[in-house]
Amino acid sequence: MKTLIIIRPDSVLRGLVGEILTRFEKHGIRIAGLKVMQLDKEIAGRLYEIHKGKPFYDSLLNTMIESPVVIAVLDTDVLDNQSAIALVRRIVGATDPSKAEMGTIRGDFGLRIDMNIIHASDSVEAAAREIPIFFRKEELVKYKC
Ligand code: CMP
Repeated sequence: MKTLIIIRPDSVLRGLVGEILTRFEKHGIRIAGLKVMQLDKEIAGRLYEIHKGKPFYDSLLNTMIESPVVIAVLDTDVLDNQSAIALVRRIVGATDPSKAEMGTIRGDFGLRIDMNIIHASDSVEAAAREIPIFFRKEELVKYKC
């Protein structure tokens, strides 16, 4: 399956893009799509629509639009759907960096729940909803081997 990650604005500014992508690549996960993008409130609102109305929603949107993000579609087609989601979530770590294991992206680089380095689709359904917000089908490559 394919899943989406977004390297958040503060992580891009900190120069963590290469390090983060490397962590996935070292597991054999491939990049099927990649772009640098300046989000606006409309597109960030679509991504985070399930959080609308929560106390942190407005600041989450403001944080996501303050400077460019790097968005990748990760190709985990050699794994079944549940294993793919589980592996990506394991590489990323728990939502709150103070609870994320060391060795995970958030555990190694994150500071607070609102500064948690990276967004990753948390289910097969979320990936199917989130990928088309940022990528057209023809922007994603298929690997033959
Ligand atoms: P993520 O799970 O990728 O997508 C929703 C984001 O909202 C989450 O990462 C955090 O960055 C942020 N978030 C979730 N819960 C809180 C909270 N209690 N306070 C502040 N930010 C939060």
